[in-house]
Amino acid sequence: MNRVDRRQFLLSGLALAAAPRLSFSASARIDILPDEPIGTINRNVYGHFTEHLGGCIYDGVWVGPDSKIPNIGGIRKQLVDRLKRLNPPVIRWPGGCFADTYNWRDGVGPRERRPRRTNFWTNTPYLWDAPNSPRKYEPNEFGTNEFMHFCRLVGAEPYFAANLRSATARDFYEWIEYCNAPSGTTTLADLRAQGGDANPFPVRFWGVGNESWGCGGNFTGAEYAVEYRRFTEWIPRYGVELSFIASGPNAADYEWTESFFRKIVEKGKGALRNTFGFALHYYCNTTGRGDAVDFTTDDWYKLLAKATLMEELISNHWRIMGEVDTDHRVKLVVDEWGAWHKTDPNISSGYLFAYYPTMRDALVSGLTLDIFNRNADKVAMANDAQLINNINTLFLAAGDRFTVTPIYHVFDMYASHQGGTAVRTVVSAPPVAHPGVPGLSGLAGSCSLHENRAVLTIVNPDIQNAQNTEINIRGRRITNSHATVLSANDIHAHNTFAQPNAVEPKQDSQAGSGSPLNYSFAPASVTRLALELA
Ligand code: AHR
Repeated sequence: MNRVDRRQFLLSGLALAAAPRLSFSASARIDILPDEPIGTINRNVYGHFTEHLGGCIYDGVWVGPDSKIPNIGGIRKQLVDRLKRLNPPVIRWPGGCFADTYNWRDGVGPRERRPRRTNFWTNTPYLWDAPNSPRKYEPNEFGTNEFMHFCRLVGAEPYFAANLRSATARDFYEWIEYCNAPSGTTTLADLRAQGGDANPFPVRFWGVGNESWGCGGNFTGAEYAVEYRRFTEWIPRYGVELSFIASGPNAADYEWTESFFRKIVEKGKGALRNTFGFALHYYCNTTGRGDAVDFTTDDWYKLLAKATLMEELISNHWRIMGEVDTDHRVKLVVDEWGAWHKTDPNISSGYLFAYYPTMRDALVSGLTLDIFNRNADKVAMANDAQLINNINTLFLAAGDRFTVTPIYHVFDMYASHQGGTAVRTVVSAPPVAHPGVPGLSGLAGSCSLHENRAVLTIVNPDIQNAQNTEINIRGRRITNSHATVLSANDIHAHNTFAQPNAVEPKQDSQAGSGSPLNYSFAPASVTRLALELA
């Protein structure tokens, strides 16, 4: 089945929300329950991830100080300017799988003297025939100080992923010393100062290995727990509240979670005291990595249905963690998530896993961020994979060409949830009627409260039908509302270097008032309603 017909899609009511308000007959209902708080939405749930992979670091974040491309000390200026607008809370680096091959010492000291190394991803068939470049042979121009400068420029907190597979516990605590030891106290603090940073960075979040069930060492959960304990014991803190993040499961690998938690407390629950998070990874891949921009309606619904699995993964892993960590002091950190399609070789040679994200990926991102909001009590951080030129990317850049993607706009629209109180919100809408995708909810979303304001974000996955919806907020009155809507004339719509504004949100400042508020959610859309409350 069938690419959706463009004309049919246009006729199906994409003229945003205006028309249906004239004669309103509701097919759906949303009840916001302000007196049923779930938890504070941790800002870090809106985090990002950058890896030395394809065009993410080199030519993405880093163009070098001598480049003709506008840059701030080597960092791409356009990226800094656009990213800052999203209020990015945290950025993970340097991998991914790359992290478990990385020697942090290679990326410090004078840039011209840094060694070149083979990149983890060199062996990927896609790169076999590609010319030699930083994507195959790591020049180490971008290291710890450069990453910290990037974080500072955009106002984000760093999250380092340390190497557990091929480095030692000593390398780990010495990297912490390099970053956090007070100025002038140790040789490593002096080395940091020689790189231009006399003051400590200081770095709080440390991932201890990445995907230790796979590229990060191929351990069992129990074997990894022993390594994790060894790496995290007795590390000097330098006054920083070190927050370690253990490598968690791949999607529904519940055995990993169970065996890690059972083993980690074998010598007492003290081993959990430094453990801030447990990292879950979930990519809703298209089967065999299908094409990012050329897909059928079937592909559309199947991918969106796969994205919704995140909710079940969170609640199942959380339950298993709670069997050992009964106080739930360890939170979930979903430090890799997103849709993942086939590499598009036309973006730029060697940009492994780069493609043009479409409206479909925007909806995957909206559905996922809403799930994180609804699980504000469980998810303390999440990092979209990845920030630029890679997988579920917010930006594409090649040389002096640059564009934001539809996913960027979703992050922009959802940024106003940060720090709000997530409240239980009951969304009742008829499920999408599409063969082979049972149970895909007709509407999905989340709501957060911010004093006299509520932010409601809603995804309508239905390609054909708008959803006329009655919105109630228990015990409060909606005095005004403003809608921001991301939709397009075609579900395949995406931004390119030539057409960077093909997909962008539209404002609907007359969304209305009254309780209930009647609003029609456009087909195949992501909507943010900012509600003013009496
Ligand atoms: O994000 C790309 C890769 O996906 C990461 O390096 C790895 O952790 C995951 O398998």
